[in-house]
Amino acid sequence: MDGSAESLRGYLEYLRDLGIYDVYRTSDASDDPALAAWWKSVASPIAASAPANAQRPAASSAPVPQRPAAPIMQRPAPTPTPQRPPLPAGNRAPDIVITPPTAAAPPPLAYDFDQAPAPTGQFAPPAMPLVSFNNLAPLPTERIAPADKAAALQSVRNTIGDCTRCPLAYAGRHHIVFADGDPNAELMFVGEGPGADEDASGIPFVGKAGQLLNNMINAMGLKREQVYIANVVKCRPPQNRTPEPKEANTCSPFLLQQVDIVQPKVIVALGATAATYLLGVKQSLANLRGHWHDVRGAKCAVTYHPAFLLRDPRQKGEAWKDLQRVMVELGLKPPTRG
Ligand code: URA
Repeated sequence: MDGSAESLRGYLEYLRDLGIYDVYRTSDASDDPALAAWWKSVASPIAASAPANAQRPAASSAPVPQRPAAPIMQRPAPTPTPQRPPLPAGNRAPDIVITPPTAAAPPPLAYDFDQAPAPTGQFAPPAMPLVSFNNLAPLPTERIAPADKAAALQSVRNTIGDCTRCPLAYAGRHHIVFADGDPNAELMFVGEGPGADEDASGIPFVGKAGQLLNNMINAMGLKREQVYIANVVKCRPPQNRTPEPKEANTCSPFLLQQVDIVQPKVIVALGATAATYLLGVKQSLANLRGHWHDVRGAKCAVTYHPAFLLRDPRQKGEAWKDLQRVMVELGLKPPTRG
């Protein structure tokens, strides 16, 4: 017996152990006498070992009982679908008209939020309250010692940090412009907000308007280093526009703290924006100029903004009148020309 016959015998014995014997029958079906003889030599010893009860039972000749025929069920006739009564003439649902898109239809436009009309009616945001610096916070009960003012101002600056409290933080700001000058100054100037030069340098009033302010200060017999200069907002509004109320109101508490720390004798509000937020009133400069206002215990004078004076130099004389009243208040004498 060659190797293949040996492995086949092992496989047949494996099948027999499983009780499978019918496989032997196939050998009888072979028409090839050589193959049949080979098959017999391989399979017969295994077939001979098959148990007697493993024989397939002979086919029975008894008739197979017939399953009784199932009765044929009749499908019930379908019930008719109830018909919706027709709507009365005046109560007809509108016909749905599908208009095919026309080739000439313009593409949908992106919504331009910058051009969006301001919300009105019940959707309009509440008006920003205009609160004077005197009503914004209680007056300080203690004076800060002169030696501590610089540190106190620095602490306010630290609180501002890299501020993101209002939209001006995201409007192309380069520097937060905190202040310049003497923390112990008797005279404080308050402007509107930094321009391009101030944004670039981080120092208030260093551009053309700043040069004119320097000249005004010098004309009062003072040097710039002797006064304190700050703005209502500390970040440049884009295109030097007027600060929005929410921007000014967000930044005002810092200016208020600067005023409370420096405690100047006189504050000069430069222009309408500074006057509006310091005093909490919206009035013309003509109304506000020429008399004293109280801001956190200091006397406040309102005058023209230097940028306005650059545009309309004829008003310089009027501004000089305002500054002369301040000089009288502070006991200042104009410098003698030598
Ligand atoms: N205008 C202002 O109001 N403030 C500045 O610092 C510069 C220009």
